[in-house]
Amino acid sequence: MIQQTLVLIKPDGLIRSLTGNILTRLSETKLEIVAGKVCRATREIAEQHYAHLKGQPFFNELIQYLQGELHERRKVMALIYWGEDAIAKVRELTGETNPEKASPTSIRGSFGRIRTTGLFENVVHASSDPLEAEREIKLWFQPDEIIIDIYPTKKAKKEVTVREWS
Ligand code: TYD
Repeated sequence: MIQQTLVLIKPDGLIRSLTGNILTRLSETKLEIVAGKVCRATREIAEQHYAHLKGQPFFNELIQYLQGELHERRKVMALIYWGEDAIAKVRELTGETNPEKASPTSIRGSFGRIRTTGLFENVVHASSDPLEAEREIKLWFQPDEIIIDIYPTKKAKKEVTVREWS
């Protein structure tokens, strides 16, 4: 099945200069990148992204981690991979959530670590199923930032002030 999946290179991946390495690994999937950007994870977006974990003892630290507050690097790289079985292919290369349990050849197994607090600092995020992928992609991207049409859109007229080059 043709699918799309969200990948985030988390702030630890960026500060440790792992971007090239991670993208090279993911290119083994032969999937297509249909959107990509470097952006800040605000508290709101981080909390929405991990809404299913609200109430966990590590939730607050996890939100700080995604925001980049644990690494002095307040940005993430967000990408959408698209193609046959995209979700499983990317998850396979990403590896298990716990970097100590992840296959040593996976991205998390190679580069992840567990903080002394117990938080898994696992370098990347990848969507776990089609519903989550849709929710996450719509959280991180607007339709016009994606080069193909993956979900239905509607036209909305908005009066907005934008910045332009002066
Ligand atoms: P989760 O959505 O369960 O896993 P995944 O990222 O593999 O989809 O967890 C989200 C993040 O929360 C995970 O990448 C790292 C962190 N986390 C911990 O630090 N400790 C834990 O025990 C769990 C379950 C997650």
